[in-house]
Amino acid sequence: MTTPATLSVTHLDLDAIATFNGRVAVIVPTDGKLSAPAQRVNKLTKGAVKRFVASDAFEALAEGGLQELAFPVGLEAEAVLIIKLDRTAGTQLARKAGAAIGAALNKKDALVLSGSVKRASDVALGALLKAYAFTDHKSEGPAAEVPTVTFAVSKPEDIDADAVTALAQGVFFTRDLVSEPANVLTTTEFASRLKDLETLGVEVEVLEESDLEALGMRTLLAVGQGSRSPSKVVVMQWKGGQDEAPLALVGKGVVFDTGGISIKPAGGMEDMTMDMGGAGVVSGVMKSLALRKAPANVVGLVGIVENMPDGNAIRPGDVIKSMKGDTVEIINTDAEGRMVLCDVMWYTQERFAPSGMIDLATLTGAIIVGLGHENAGVFSNNDAFCNAFLKSASTESEGAWRMPLGQAYDDQLKSHIADMKNVGTRAGGSITAAQYLQRFVKDGTPWIHLDIAGVASVKAPTDLSPKGATGWGVLALNRLIDDLTAAGEA
Ligand code: BES
Ligand code: MN
Ligand code: ZN
Repeated sequence: MTTPATLSVTHLDLDAIATFNGRVAVIVPTDGKLSAPAQRVNKLTKGAVKRFVASDAFEALAEGGLQELAFPVGLEAEAVLIIKLDRTAGTQLARKAGAAIGAALNKKDALVLSGSVKRASDVALGALLKAYAFTDHKSEGPAAEVPTVTFAVSKPEDIDADAVTALAQGVFFTRDLVSEPANVLTTTEFASRLKDLETLGVEVEVLEESDLEALGMRTLLAVGQGSRSPSKVVVMQWKGGQDEAPLALVGKGVVFDTGGISIKPAGGMEDMTMDMGGAGVVSGVMKSLALRKAPANVVGLVGIVENMPDGNAIRPGDVIKSMKGDTVEIINTDAEGRMVLCDVMWYTQERFAPSGMIDLATLTGAIIVGLGHENAGVFSNNDAFCNAFLKSASTESEGAWRMPLGQAYDDQLKSHIADMKNVGTRAGGSITAAQYLQRFVKDGTPWIHLDIAGVASVKAPTDLSPKGATGWGVLALNRLIDDLTAAGEA
């Protein structure tokens, strides 16, 4: 488990600044007025802070930006980091400012003098999230000791370090899972990492192939039947609430997607190690909920399979019966995610009768064509539920854009020999995938489908993550769960 930095909050002690070892981060508002700790750093450095603040360089620095003053006189620290951020800055700017600190840690401890900044918790979260790097398979590995980021503030109770850490650890869990190569994160290894959540109080059950066979999850099993790795469904239950029906999160966990017999082209196929991204987000949310002991009932179910071409693999033209009982004609074995999800979604509703169901999946390349890497595709049968999610995603700055559903799209799935085909035409490929899923949503189950193919893993750094796995959705879903709990709905 990657932990890039530990968060700590202490009472501000001006006299401890001079001898701090590592990096001293000073937050300065846009008007350049120095807080008491900033004044102390300025005095110790013989006016270096004020000189910088009076310069054109400070003027030119964007809010949330950072300037490093290396090896300053008067301090034992190896650098002073000056961050421009107003006292009343909003969530996203505060996180961006924190991210600037996280990116400049250089594997060293940091002392953050946040002055009177209101959203210091968000600065802290930004610092942790951006400091992440997945180095498990690099010979040099991570720093020998995990650096500590200490916020020295006059009111330590204003920053809930445990709550911030719980969110960050959830995001890291997701990012680690998504980053792992498929020879490491096999279906068995994935299930075993989820089993570890039991130590945090999550109830975890692993359904094996024989169980899935008995339940009739034939479309899920069909996807995995060409792989040496056994298919699994992992059921995670967090019972932090009263006796209300749980919210259900369902994730696509294809540990590697070759496309199967409808094999993908070689170029870029290595990216398909992230095809378990939906299951990764579900896992990260469950971890955060447990770490912060969220007062909500949430179940997370993930379908974990590998899609391989093989003598035993499914073929185009095969007809498979789903757990629901509907039959599916396989036209393209690369449209496997929906075949995994439909059985897990059906099982989720049969077993838990959830108050709402959200599925997450790296489902279609078409959603990347439509929305790029900025927004996940959001599909829903319930406006109120959908709007609640869009609001939490927007608060967390996790891009999410609602897409349409409709009968004409669904008609593309008609099959001559079975109840449906597993693909439509190229036109509206993300929507027909969502229509396929909706056929497995019971009337009366509020449902959201999140197509995260474009946002789960990206080729360039984002505000709060390095290139690669982002952990998109962990924050938005945590917030949604809190909002629903506050409204008495989860
Ligand atoms: N896992 C892919 C979708 C994907 C593409 C995820 C790019 C992340 C990045 C999915 O299983 C898939 O192969 N979808 C096909 C569907 C098609 C066969 C109807 C696609 O998008 O091409
Ligand atoms: Mn595929
Ligand atoms: Zn896939």
